[in-house]
Amino acid sequence: MLTSIKTNSFAGDKSKELAMMYYRVAIILFGAQLLMGLIAAFQFIVPGFLFELFDFSVARTVHINALVVWMLYAMIGSVYFMMPDETGIETVGIGIGKLAFWVLTAAVTVVVLVYIFVQIGPGTESSIWLINEGREYLEAPRWADIGIVVVVLTFYANVFLTYMKGEKTGLMTVMVANLLAVSGLYLAGMFFTDNISMDQYWWWWVIHLWVEATWEVFVGTLAAFALIRLIGAKREVVEMWLWIEVLMLFGSGVLGLGHHYFWIGTPEYWWEIGALFSALEPVPLVAMFVHVLYDWGKEQGIAQGKGITGSVLTNGPAMAWLVMNAFGNFLGAGIWGFFHTLPQVNIYTHGTQFTAAHGHLAFFGAYATILVGMMYIGLQSAYGIKIMKASFKSKMGITLISFGVMGMTIALTVAGYEQVLIERAELGGGWEAFFTAQNLPWYIQGQLWRMIMGVVTFIGFIYLLWDLLTIGKTQRALQEQA
Ligand code: HEM
Ligand code: HEM
Ligand SMILES: [Fe+2]
Repeated sequence: MLTSIKTNSFAGDKSKELAMMYYRVAIILFGAQLLMGLIAAFQFIVPGFLFELFDFSVARTVHINALVVWMLYAMIGSVYFMMPDETGIETVGIGIGKLAFWVLTAAVTVVVLVYIFVQIGPGTESSIWLINEGREYLEAPRWADIGIVVVVLTFYANVFLTYMKGEKTGLMTVMVANLLAVSGLYLAGMFFTDNISMDQYWWWWVIHLWVEATWEVFVGTLAAFALIRLIGAKREVVEMWLWIEVLMLFGSGVLGLGHHYFWIGTPEYWWEIGALFSALEPVPLVAMFVHVLYDWGKEQGIAQGKGITGSVLTNGPAMAWLVMNAFGNFLGAGIWGFFHTLPQVNIYTHGTQFTAAHGHLAFFGAYATILVGMMYIGLQSAYGIKIMKASFKSKMGITLISFGVMGMTIALTVAGYEQVLIERAELGGGWEAFFTAQNLPWYIQGQLWRMIMGVVTFIGFIYLLWDLLTIGKTQRALQEQA
């Protein structure tokens, strides 16, 4: 992945080169995210670890902000990758696109260094502008916020103008419309208000409407693109599915927002609205799952019918990650989300480790998986490999990472269950109850297992990284020998 820029087979396709630049930063930030997670997880077990040097609050901030940023990088990379294929022309403003990449990367580096070395500041405007804006997941200080808006505007202009000039496929139409919503929603996280209810009200517009509406549509679009490439699925079929998915995702996800308005001081009618619409959110996730597996089986069956032996797959590791996405999205977002989405349940589970369990499996299952799959598609293209097969390292990567994240999720679910029973149901909540529950064996063991499974995840990541760095070259050499 690191060398491909010089020896790539893109044949002057600058948009795809830019995509690889975005993927590279994404994978580095993914690694940083995991390291920070390990520190934070260890601090649950040994609370004094790095106390006042690198507090839990700092490790957690970097962990979840790196998560959001690496995903956005990989998403932008994926758009730059697919655009020339979909529109049939080269991306219009590639120079400005590259400049935006460097500006964004420089800004992200400064922000991360400030999080790590400066960490905190006085409770005044200057901290908001220079250190940390204080909204979970979107903590970038305000100067960087404004910079991000400018960079995203140039990105969007690039996408929109290329779309207008080139061929307009259904896939690209969904992408262009949806990206406008993804970018626009970021603005809702930039309001300043000293009323915490209002602050949370707007903040959820970004977090929820990103992950449960617009990012899901983004994933549906990527899956459609990937299916056409990986198994030769028919464009008319995947595009028809995509429109249905868009309708269902927005139909349930937009008002599903109400499941975050149960207890923050918003009017009580949100209980019914949130319960009803968010309970419907798993439906499109089931549809997306069925769609991927059905198309795969169908294309394989057609090939067999024609007497073709062997697999129809053109990229084994990418398809494995895509199938993991179909499963993970349904399980992490759909099932683990549904568990706690009704107010009758959420009153007990709200803010417990159960939420963290869902957060991990959902972000991993719905987003990390497909974005890693896109990186493999990028590598295949960069090295001009006709059929990319999974290597031992690819298999170790996907197996250990998925097993590790699932293990962490189960450990946290057990810890959360204990909190629900003891802290909430038995002791009725409150300060004392909170600490009592944290000192009981199920909670402590849950945290220990999360740490162990976190290490498993990290070992899987090393395999993944090693694979991404080597698979292109190795398989290219094999292809040339054959
Ligand atoms: C890929 C999609 C999803 C992702 C990435 C995701 C991620 C998250 C995260 C990180 C949180 C914790 C936010 C915080 O820090 O407070 C959260 C909360 C929540 N999610 Fe999801 N989620 C997804 C889909 C869903 C779905 C489909 C449902 C319902 C069916 C759902 C139900 C909930 C609920 C009820 C909460 C609030 C938990 C609480 O009260 O503590 N989520 N989600
Ligand atoms: C080495 C593996 C990992 C470890 C040890 C780890 C550990 C942690 C810890 C300790 C927290 C703070 C939890 C709290 O405040 O109670 C956290 C939060 C979080 N992590 Fe991880 N993590 C890992 C990997 C991941 C991955 C792969 C993802 C998603 C792709 C992820 C997504 C999140 C999210 C969304 C939160 C916020 C959850 C919430 O507030 O509900 N983490 N993680
Ligand atoms: Fe939500």
